[in-house]
Amino acid sequence: MKKVENAGINGIKQKRKPFHISPDDFFDETEVLRKNYSELIDNPEPSRIVVIPSVSYGIANVVNNIPFKDGEILLCDEQFPSNVYPWWRLKEKGFELKTIAPPNSEKRGESWNEKILESITDRTRVISMGHIHWSDGTLFQLERIRAALDKVGGLLVIDGTQSVGALPFSIKKIRPDALICAGYKWLMGPYSIGLAYYGPAFDHGVPLEENWINRLDSDNFSELVNYQESYREMSLRYEVGEHSNFILVPMLHKAIKQLIKWNPDSIQAYTKDLMKDAINQLSEWGYRIENENYRAHHMFGARLPEKIAIEKLGHAFHTNRVSVSVRGNAVRISPNVYNDEMDVRKLLKAMKEPIFASKTLEQ
Ligand SMILES: Cc1ncc(COP(=O)(O)O)c(C=O)c1O
Repeated sequence: MKKVENAGINGIKQKRKPFHISPDDFFDETEVLRKNYSELIDNPEPSRIVVIPSVSYGIANVVNNIPFKDGEILLCDEQFPSNVYPWWRLKEKGFELKTIAPPNSEKRGESWNEKILESITDRTRVISMGHIHWSDGTLFQLERIRAALDKVGGLLVIDGTQSVGALPFSIKKIRPDALICAGYKWLMGPYSIGLAYYGPAFDHGVPLEENWINRLDSDNFSELVNYQESYREMSLRYEVGEHSNFILVPMLHKAIKQLIKWNPDSIQAYTKDLMKDAINQLSEWGYRIENENYRAHHMFGARLPEKIAIEKLGHAFHTNRVSVSVRGNAVRISPNVYNDEMDVRKLLKAMKEPIFASKTLEQ
């Protein structure tokens, strides 16, 4: 967004006069950012939100502080690596990592959700997953998963990178133990800044790094070498060093304020409406698209009809100047408020070309 871009430029310009930056500036904007992000994700406790540089960083804080000695960690199949590699560390400590793959079924999304629920046993300590799958938008029923974990005392860790901002998320309803989110996707902020929510399970943990600003009374600059044993309240111990970043924080903040105005519910409604006819058309041509109860509207996969080679489709996208991701034998389509019917027509044109070319060859 232009206003996000301008916030970054102003942040750079501010450094021309560093003597105008006051001690309060190190705290003020991140405090308001915490409050606004809390509004977006329906979180009653802003001091549970911290600035992180990446998802891998946010997940590492979780992995280092899980309150268990052994048991099973459940992950979904083909999850984004930043929510996989950090968990490998626990294999060295005797934990078992289990990956839950989607069943090969007509009702793929529905049966994948069921399989996740069935995989929860009294050995389950943590499930770490997305709200939607990053590669094809499969929607996971987090409230049901939370309820099943409650019965066995397990933790729910969510990587919200591909959903928060575009798909409604409620901390109050889903009650995750951690929600980790990069800022540069559907939060529409810049790269190298994200936000993490850590619940009470992590209130006494050890942060990845020991930064001065995360200690009690760090706003009293003249007392900084009166070293403090205690951290600031709730989750603030986990903030990345130099979290007051005067360029990235205002950018992310502007983006989040705009997302609150747009409202993720409206983004879902807009993208649903925008893509409705196109999805029917694609299904008629043989593309397989998940039932709408088990996919997001701002991101979904279209699996190719068997006879179509993915390279042909890639070529059609390139010549029609359509930007979508091609993952395995699926195309990942991610519409948002900046797309309109003209874009959808171009998308359909590109996806139609290889279908009709293959029909002509068959004749
Ligand atoms: C689901 C998901 N998580 C995380 C990331 C980014 O991870 P990181 O911030 O560690 O680079 C991505 C990027 O594509 C993603 O799709």
